[in-house]
Amino acid sequence: MSDKKEVLILAIESSCDETAAAVVRNGREVLSNVISSQIALHTLYGGVVPEIASRKHIEKINQVVEAALAEADVTLADIDAIGVTYGPGLVGALLVGVAAAKAIAYAAGKPLIGVHHIEGHIAANFIEHKELEPPFFSLVVSGGHTHLVRVKDYGQFDIIGRTRDDAAGEAFDKVARAIGLGYPGGPKIDKVAKEGNPEAISFPRAHVEDAPYDFSFSGVKSAVLNYINGCQMKGEVYSQADVAAAFQKAVTDVLVANAMHAVEEYQVDKLAIAGGVASNSALREAMKTACEAKGVEFYYPSPIYCTDNAAMIGVAAYYEYLSGTRHGWDLNAVPNLKLGER
Ligand code: KG4
Ligand code: ZN
Repeated sequence: MSDKKEVLILAIESSCDETAAAVVRNGREVLSNVISSQIALHTLYGGVVPEIASRKHIEKINQVVEAALAEADVTLADIDAIGVTYGPGLVGALLVGVAAAKAIAYAAGKPLIGVHHIEGHIAANFIEHKELEPPFFSLVVSGGHTHLVRVKDYGQFDIIGRTRDDAAGEAFDKVARAIGLGYPGGPKIDKVAKEGNPEAISFPRAHVEDAPYDFSFSGVKSAVLNYINGCQMKGEVYSQADVAAAFQKAVTDVLVANAMHAVEEYQVDKLAIAGGVASNSALREAMKTACEAKGVEFYYPSPIYCTDNAAMIGVAAYYEYLSGTRHGWDLNAVPNLKLGER
């Protein structure tokens, strides 16, 4: 690969409970996407234990990087830049990826590019939708974030709305735990809800006054907890499937309503969803129908690119690479990094 007409990014992601590495060609083609999930480990505790996550990342990081290079059939010498998530996320978890990326970039003499995790989630849409280009709107729904974002250009964002309390995925996880489904809650609620009646129970749809694009999910979560407690106090058995379906409907109704409001106000013609909750089947279905009704092009990544992965970080890093972003050896983990911040 001496006469290079292509840009190869080696990307690393370790912001939460997946240790991941990927090789991405020209920002849109995934040559490898290796993910070592810690889910089984954290399931024992009902959620992610930060200290355990960091330790596991240390154990796995070199293995996933080596596997990503091998699977892509390239060596470090072929790589043009190292991209790494440096925030937001768990500080100890982020630090492992950042330290590894710095060490690899320094040793191999390659540029280092720090990537915002949410920018990565949004960029996941570029992998399978080669025609998708900014400007477009994105609804980012993950375990830590719920953002309605105007993507003005590659790497340029305006946050139009955000959650005031729990993230959508966080609400899924908490409700799943309360109804005995365990961790991680989102996929389990998605599955169980298929057997339930979403109209069986009416849970609240919160709208934040004077902020039509903001979200609030703590109310619906509390309503579910109250409903369960009420049943238990009366000695009644509640239907896990109905609670899951009704809760999921309450959350997706608000996500769709706010996104459609933005679509109208900003005259958007393209909407891309991203993040772990974007793999929710009910959300995908409802958003697709709503977008079709408004003549809006609707994009969503395959589930493997919705939840945390390094391919999406490689895509975002590629566009940062093109725009000249380079980080120094002082790059640090920034647990509260804001979208659009450098
Ligand atoms: O994007 P992600 O992997 O990590 C963060 O950046 O937070 O998102 C994880 C979140 C978890 O809360 C998980 O329960 C949720 O995404 N999730 C889902 C589904 N799959 C994952 N939520 C609803 N339905 C799903 N199918
Ligand atoms: Zn994520």
